[in-house]
Amino acid sequence: MNFFDLKRLVAILGLIPMAVLALDGEVIMIKGAANPAAMPCITCHGADGKGTPSAGFPRLAGHPAEYLAKQLRDFKAGTRQNLIMQPIATALTDEEINDVAKAYAARPKVNVTPSKMRPVEGTGAWLALRGSWSRNIPECTLCHGPDGVGISGVFPPLAGQSAMYLEAQLRAWKGTPASTAKTGKVKAVAPTRRNDPNGLMQHIARDLTDAEIKLVAEYFEGLGESAEPFNESQHRLR
Ligand code: HEC
Ligand code: HEC
Repeated sequence: MNFFDLKRLVAILGLIPMAVLALDGEVIMIKGAANPAAMPCITCHGADGKGTPSAGFPRLAGHPAEYLAKQLRDFKAGTRQNLIMQPIATALTDEEINDVAKAYAARPKVNVTPSKMRPVEGTGAWLALRGSWSRNIPECTLCHGPDGVGISGVFPPLAGQSAMYLEAQLRAWKGTPASTAKTGKVKAVAPTRRNDPNGLMQHIARDLTDAEIKLVAEYFEGLGESAEPFNESQHRLR
């Protein structure tokens, strides 16, 4: 019997309050899961869950539980490939995935101060807020919410993430297409992230140039984080 089973048994017997059980997700964050291969999440994702921007480790705090749990299952299934996260996700049980996802979702959600600036064509802001419809690229905020704060459990927040992380994800969906490989004299590389419903992001990432990927990633990083707590009414679709 491991520590977690023991804890549950003790709780069932009524020796510790049931409320402690709800903290399982928090325990995983700080101490890791029952299988030691699932290391403490805080090592990389930060004590506050806001990630380590300089290393490209993403923010998890305040992200929807549904989205986080899906990503962990996708790492496990290999539809999202990453050398660091795949062994960690594989070491988590389904129950642990749900618990740790719920615990991160309970942390404060990222908030940004809505910008009143009109975007200028050719900038990252233009792509984020207007898109490039002539190339079938919708504005990012259509799905990722006004100011990139996310919508429902399906469309994650982009605000609060580092440009390094956002760029890496767009490149993971894009891979190195054969056409670029030919002109750039580099090897064609297959996409390492193939977990998006209906290929929504794959299509967008493929149609963005490398320069545009960088600009739009920098735009979302540049939104920063407001000190005010998240307030839904500040972020309405315009
Ligand atoms: C050694 C560093 C490290 C540790 C420890 C770690 N992570 Fe990660 N995590 C990463 C990196 C790097 C990525 C980005 C992977 C990529 O580029 O696809 C990531 C991405 C994620 C994502 C996807 C986030 C998103 O916005 O799509 C989730 C969810 C996640 N980690 C959960 C966890 C959980 C839960 C734990 C603890 C059980 C954990 N991580 C421990 C480094 C780590
Ligand atoms: C039609 C809807 C749609 C549009 C428009 C869209 N996205 Fe997404 N995006 C998604 C979905 C769905 C996901 C989550 C995929 C998954 O489950 O892994 C996602 C995920 C992402 C992620 C990964 C976030 C993370 O935490 O790992 C990035 C980065 C991203 N989108 C960037 C963009 C950018 C930049 C634009 C605009 C150029 C954009 N998206 C427009 C639907 C969309």
